[in-house]
Amino acid sequence: MEKYTHVFQGTAFTSKSPKEVQVLKDHLFCINSDGIIEKIIAPEDTDYQPLLDLYHGEENFHRLANGQYLLPGFVDLHVHAPQWAQSGTALDIPLNDWLNTYTFPIESKFSDLEFAKNVYEDVVSTLLANGTTTALYFATIHKQASLLLAKICAEKGQRGLVGKVVMDLPDQNPAYYRDADAKTALADTEEFILAVRELAKSTKQGVFPVVTPRFIPSWTDEALNGLGELAAKYDTYIQSHCSESDWAHGYVQERFNKNDAFALHDFGLLREKSVMAHCNFLNEQDAALFAETGTAIGHCPISNAYFANSVIPISHLHSKGIEIGLGSDISGGFSPSLFDNARQAVMSSRMLEDGVNPALPAEERGVPNSRLTIDEAFYFATAGGGESLSLPIGRLAENYAWDVQIIDTNLGFSKLPIYNVYENLHDIFQKIMYLVQPENIREVWVQGEKVHSR
Ligand code: GUN
Ligand code: FE
Repeated sequence: MEKYTHVFQGTAFTSKSPKEVQVLKDHLFCINSDGIIEKIIAPEDTDYQPLLDLYHGEENFHRLANGQYLLPGFVDLHVHAPQWAQSGTALDIPLNDWLNTYTFPIESKFSDLEFAKNVYEDVVSTLLANGTTTALYFATIHKQASLLLAKICAEKGQRGLVGKVVMDLPDQNPAYYRDADAKTALADTEEFILAVRELAKSTKQGVFPVVTPRFIPSWTDEALNGLGELAAKYDTYIQSHCSESDWAHGYVQERFNKNDAFALHDFGLLREKSVMAHCNFLNEQDAALFAETGTAIGHCPISNAYFANSVIPISHLHSKGIEIGLGSDISGGFSPSLFDNARQAVMSSRMLEDGVNPALPAEERGVPNSRLTIDEAFYFATAGGGESLSLPIGRLAENYAWDVQIIDTNLGFSKLPIYNVYENLHDIFQKIMYLVQPENIREVWVQGEKVHSR
């Protein structure tokens, strides 16, 4: 019989389809030395008992305790790592003012590598402790500090996709925080890509460079063209913000006389490996272009409540064939938890469906068929994120990475309300999605390695 690096026995939840959660009750999960799920064995399979006999009592056999469950690790498609330093504050003014008043000043401090190290170590550890095993990060304009973030992900065992931010347009960015010019921004980006590719060679779980123009209002055309070329040359991921707020959306219309999606496409920035944050104001043509190019939406429901001036019709956009995952958008979104964001995704979608102005008659108030279920929000936080990044992550299935969170529903001080040992497992799943706190996340594994425990 095969020799596995780890064997886990327990009950797991994983998305079978966007709308359906599959329960794998008391299954065996066999992990190989690459950190991949090589085999999943159900209790009724003939090799279940022989494998149990072989591994039982071994150091690499992990039997989940009563009340513990496995979930796939979360994939956060949009995090501003430096903004962790102001999370939970500065949410009182509109997007453009917020950037200039709070966010550019704090991001500019990351030229100081000591400060950067403190914040970046904390944000990576915090996301891991919240069950996020893969994160798509914006760093800052600073090449060295951005590389430091990639190194910290590599060391702490998180799968990090990291971008040095590009913002070079003098009249939209303050002199104290912008790239010197397009040429420097492109040269720094290319050096950053090469350095992260080098780091990736010794990083088991993977670390990836991301071409990261901040958003259309922050770049010159020259930088935009060059970044599209760099992404194509090195086949990198691309991330940016797209059609986020009335102001950002309007700015792009004024400058290019088109929506963000087509403007981004003109610069070669919509590709299979592109993830665009927010996307609240996509129209039907924009949506078709996203689907056609394989561009994914990083849906940031908490942040959107503050800055996006609208609720994005996720259910509709998903029905158009667009890949969608969830993003925390720290610190536009205050929470580092994709549990919190999944909850908000459901609540916002219900408000979109019903509408919010009680002065209107019910039939005119909302947008029908907008609701998301918690099962769909879970899909976006896991498998949807994995598909958006075209990586084998976000599902507990054979040939996927062993990226998991072990949830304990039975903790004395943070116990979930489960009073019947035979409670329906789908109900337990829903309680987990709505009620888990970081304390309940007892272990987190990435690519077959334990990276967090409490
Ligand atoms: N648009 C440009 N930069 C940002 C940012 O840092 N956060 C959000 N939410 N939107 C942006
Ligand atoms: Fe953002």
